[in-house]
Amino acid sequence: MAPRKQTGDDHARALSFEVRRVQVPFLDAASPAVVVLRRAVLIRTVPERSEAGPGAISTKGRILTVQTPTGRQGVIKRYRDKLPEIPGWAISTLGEGDTPLIEAPRISARIGARLYLKFEGMNPTASFKDRGMTVALSRAVADGNTAVICASTGNTAAAASAYAARAGLTCFVVVPAGKIALGKAVQVLAHGAKIVQIDGNFDAALKLCQRAERDLGTVALVNSVNPDRIEGQKTAAFEVAETLGRPPDALALPVGNAGNITAYWKGFKEWREAGHADSAPRMLGFQAEGASPLVAGHDFENPETVASAIRIGAPASKKGALGAVSESGGLIESVTDEEILEAQGLLASSEGVFCEPASAAGVAGLLKLAKEGRAPEGVVVAVLTGHGLKDPDVILNRTRLPEPIPATFDALVETMQRVEPEAR
Ligand SMILES: Cc1ncc(COP(=O)(O)O)c(C=O)c1O
Repeated sequence: MAPRKQTGDDHARALSFEVRRVQVPFLDAASPAVVVLRRAVLIRTVPERSEAGPGAISTKGRILTVQTPTGRQGVIKRYRDKLPEIPGWAISTLGEGDTPLIEAPRISARIGARLYLKFEGMNPTASFKDRGMTVALSRAVADGNTAVICASTGNTAAAASAYAARAGLTCFVVVPAGKIALGKAVQVLAHGAKIVQIDGNFDAALKLCQRAERDLGTVALVNSVNPDRIEGQKTAAFEVAETLGRPPDALALPVGNAGNITAYWKGFKEWREAGHADSAPRMLGFQAEGASPLVAGHDFENPETVASAIRIGAPASKKGALGAVSESGGLIESVTDEEILEAQGLLASSEGVFCEPASAAGVAGLLKLAKEGRAPEGVVVAVLTGHGLKDPDVILNRTRLPEPIPATFDALVETMQRVEPEAR
């Protein structure tokens, strides 16, 4: 089929629009400001009808009418024509996707590229897993399943629990005992999923779940080896390309089981094949040093890292990850726990974005490449896969609340004066 440019009608179908009228005196349609605005609010994809109608820019240069998306309808409805078929009655959504792409000027200066952060912690269960889980759970419902199962380092479990609750399905999550970050365990308990702790790591948990699906026949596996998960997760690539107006030059992200890097690359390739862009980014994947089988070239029997979400020794989507890297001219390298925690701290304190340790691996990798004079150039996106509140212990292990002071103004002033001026 011949590639087709995306039209305004595609977007109008996919998004709920709010029409805003903005008075912009002395602005004409060809001015640089209008060109920038066209990109920023996707006007260019909306057909220009009448002068003051939706999407139109007055040729008299006086009234600018723009359309901006309102409400989150979830990735299935938004990208319906690019996803597996799911009947409307089976769709289970919490309004996932449409996460912010935040410019990071201070870290950009260190890297020497224009860095944006795709903050996936803003999804309903606070990680990127929701994109794939809405598709996997909806398909499980459409196929008549009554239960789902997954192995997890925490975020898959949290997302599966929430979407199963939404869909009215029973959810079993199999996790390495005592290795799940507090916030994620709390999510699973809150949603009422059946949590099974095993004396083994993620890789052992995944093998058990795969066998349960195969031998029991009544329960759907919703790990990223399920292709529906990859389909849902690829929508993040579409969003990045849409928001920037084109795909970035490079995309950096953490790699654990390697489903996400596989999904992003699939998304960017499809975007290009559909004729929406003529380029795709270099894929830069980063594993934690103590759990870096794709870098070492062999599985890790006892993977270890502070970044519990990527503590995986035998990535199931190894082939997809290596394909993404070689086809895009990218790389997979490792970063130390120290570098991960430093990047997490920098993101929180200098950009105001709080992500969990694993999520900072992409930025840690970019900082490492910059130190070695190998940083990518141009527009770079780092995917922050999960919210920092998922793993409060990592922060509390490094810092603590100060002792209380008397409730007097003098004591407050004295305390404030003790703060180093540059730290304020
Ligand atoms: C926060 C976070 N970042 C990164 C990853 C790694 O993603 P993938 O396993 O798809 O490589 C995970 C996986 O659980 C995760 O939870």
